[in-house]
Amino acid sequence: MNKKIAILPGDGIGSEVTEQAQKVLATVAEIYGHQFEMESALVGAAAIDATGNPFPEATEEVCKKADAILFGAIGHPKYDDDPKAKVRPEQGLLAMRKKLGLFANIRPVTSYDALLPISPLKEEIIKGVDFVVFRELTGGIYFGQPRGRSEDGNSAFDTCNYSKEEIIRVSKLAFESARNRRKHVTLVDKANVLATSRLWRETVQELASNYPDVTLDFMFVDNAAMKIIQNPRFFDVVLTENMFGDIITDEASVISGSLGMLPSASVGVTSSLFEPIHGSYPQAAGKNIANPFGAILSAAMLLEYAFGLNDESELIKKAVDDCVNAGFVTEDINKENPKSTTEVGDKIVSLIKELSTVNS
Ligand code: IPM
Ligand code: MN
Repeated sequence: MNKKIAILPGDGIGSEVTEQAQKVLATVAEIYGHQFEMESALVGAAAIDATGNPFPEATEEVCKKADAILFGAIGHPKYDDDPKAKVRPEQGLLAMRKKLGLFANIRPVTSYDALLPISPLKEEIIKGVDFVVFRELTGGIYFGQPRGRSEDGNSAFDTCNYSKEEIIRVSKLAFESARNRRKHVTLVDKANVLATSRLWRETVQELASNYPDVTLDFMFVDNAAMKIIQNPRFFDVVLTENMFGDIITDEASVISGSLGMLPSASVGVTSSLFEPIHGSYPQAAGKNIANPFGAILSAAMLLEYAFGLNDESELIKKAVDDCVNAGFVTEDINKENPKSTTEVGDKIVSLIKELSTVNS
């Protein structure tokens, strides 16, 4: 298979973890005889420094030409401490989502047996957790107009709006995914308070009649926040709007033991982007200590979702499982005997090579 992959390392630890994911993609390509042409481009604070724009046109071009995008992280502390900054790295991420039409963000949450002890949650609660969140990504309060400050500057406002069409397209993906899983969708909303949530409920209810084999239930977001840590095995497919999805996926990451483990996919009609859910973790940047599993698993998702290369994707996931189970992990998981980012990347590469010869 011949494919173009845009590589957007971004800020902080983004370049270090993305480099490991690229090594993994190159290894898989070699084993299976694929050609992955990788082209890098700037995004985030790095792009602001170079061009003044966090998502420059040149980067947009590289993304649009590519068959899939692998992205690292965005964000720099100099902007976090300055609420008056005119341009912010996060605007690059939001512009990228909007301009590439990436309307559905898919975030799987699984627990690893070897990591159960390091989660602050009890083992008997998180063992065997396996759910996936479908977060709407280009609508709601993140993008609604009007937004801004009153003339006297003493009040501010954001708008949350959703159209039926925006709700339906992401919901369809959630129902289709449920069909390949345990056939259970939970819509998370705040329909007891918000008009947009009532539209979500009504629309999803209507759509559900096309999926009679899937069980649909509803949960208010405050209750869902509690249930995710009280009884996470309840969930199979969680469907929700942009901001609720942002919040509950950070919460859910605690289940897997480290934010550094979780990959994600953002899909649209013509483009798809894959990224670890962790941020740019500037304190760790350049130290070769960041956890590359989230990025490596994002590369696995890319092969599966964008290219339909399921065997290749499974091989990567198996190598990550083996690596984690062998305790070959970075310091966020093992403080006593940590491995570096590059050591973990190299280990995954060698595990993939070993596993592929065993299988062939
Ligand atoms: C995420 C991040 C982003 C979001 C930020 C960096 C804008 O938290 O991808 O979850 O809020 O969507
Ligand atoms: Mn977030």
